[in-house]
Amino acid sequence: MRVRLDDPAKTAAWLTELAPVHVRTLDAYQPGKPIEELERELGISGAIKVASNENPLGPSPRAVAAIQAAVGSINLYPDAASFALRRALAARLGVGEPEVAIGAGSNDLLYQLVLALVGPEHEVVSPAFGFLSYRLAAQVAGRRFVATAATPDGADLDALCAAFGPTTRLVVIGTPNNPTGSVFTRQQAARVLDALPEHALLVIDEAYAEYAAAWPEVDHVDGLVFLREALAAGDPRVVLLRTFSKIYGLAAMRVGYAVAHAGVLDLLGRVVRTFHVGTLGQVAALAALDDTDHVARSAALGRRGIERMRAELGKIPGVTAYPSLSNFVLLDVGRPSGPLYDRLLKRGVIVRPMAAWGLPNALRVSIAAEHDLDRVIATLAEVLSP
Ligand SMILES: Cc1ncc(COP(=O)(O)O)c(C=O)c1O
Repeated sequence: MRVRLDDPAKTAAWLTELAPVHVRTLDAYQPGKPIEELERELGISGAIKVASNENPLGPSPRAVAAIQAAVGSINLYPDAASFALRRALAARLGVGEPEVAIGAGSNDLLYQLVLALVGPEHEVVSPAFGFLSYRLAAQVAGRRFVATAATPDGADLDALCAAFGPTTRLVVIGTPNNPTGSVFTRQQAARVLDALPEHALLVIDEAYAEYAAAWPEVDHVDGLVFLREALAAGDPRVVLLRTFSKIYGLAAMRVGYAVAHAGVLDLLGRVVRTFHVGTLGQVAALAALDDTDHVARSAALGRRGIERMRAELGKIPGVTAYPSLSNFVLLDVGRPSGPLYDRLLKRGVIVRPMAAWGLPNALRVSIAAEHDLDRVIATLAEVLSP
C-alpha cells in the first residue's frame, strides 16, 4: 500500500498511530536559550548566558591542545572501550578499570541505567526538584518515575525511603542537586542505602562534585568515598555518576563517567550504542583530568560566585537565594518568574526559569566570569527589586 498525507489532520492521525503513548506524551527537554539565538532575536550583542551551569573560565587549555593534536585522525573510529581515559580515571579514583565506564555525558549513562536495568514492572524513584533527565530517562523507556517529597533545601528522607518497594530498581539522588544546589550529608546517603531494597541501585549523581569540594566545612557526602566503602564491604548497589561537562569545561564534548561494581557496568555495556564517545571527547577529557590548576581555579571562582550572588541577591526584598555547593544559585523571587525571565532576556542576561521543575517562582542563575558577574548581579538587582 501507499500512504498519502495530504492534510494536517491525516498527518496528525498517522503520527498518533506511529508512536507508543509514552513517547507521544513526553515533553522534550528544553535546554537553556543559546546566546546566538537571543542575539539574533533581539538584534543585540554581548549577551551573557548563565542558564546551563557551564564553566565560565572555558575549557582546560590542555584539553584544547589535545583536541587540536587529535583532529587529524577523526577519519578513524574512536576507541570504543575508551581504554586510556578509563585507565587514567581508575588510577585517579582509586578503583579498578572494570569499575569505570565512559558515557556521552552523564545523561547517556542515566539512560543506559534505565535501559539495562529497569523492566516494565519496575520504577525509578527520585526526590522532587531534581535534574529533569532523571524523569526523562525513565519516561523515554516507558518506565514509571516516582518523585518523592522535597523542598529547595533538600529531600524529605522519610518520604524517599518510604517510597522504596520490591519494584524499585533505581533510586537517583543528585548531590549537589540541580536546580536547588542542596546536598545529601554522608549520614543521609547511608540512611538511603540502608533502606534500599536488595535489587535496587542507589545512583549518586555528582555532576558538581569538584565544585562541592571547595566547601570542605559544609557536611556533604563524597560519592566516591561512599561508593568505595560500599564496594569494600561487598555491597554492589552504589553507582556514581560524574561528568566532564561542568568544572572541566567540556560540555560540548559529551563525556561523563560511571563508577560502580564491574558486574553492574558489564550490564550497562550490553545496551551501549557502539562508538558513543568520540575521539576528541576522549582525548580532551584525558588532558583535562590532569589540569589540576584549571580545576582549582574553576572551583575557587565557583565558590566566590556563589558567595557573592547569595550575599547580593539575597538581600533584595522578597528574594531568597538558597545555599549551593555547585556553580549556580536557585532564587525564589516570590512571584511568577516567567515575566522576570523575559525582562532579563531583553537586557541580554539569559537565566533559567524553573516552572518546568515545578518551581514557578524560581530562577536558576549560574556563576559567570568575574567581569560578567558584576553585570549579571546588577541586572538581576534592577529587575528583581520590588
Ligand atoms: C545534576 C546533573 N546531572 C547530570 C548532568 C548532565 O551532564 P552531562 O550529560 O553533560 O554530563 C547535569 C547537567 O546539567 C546536571 O546538572
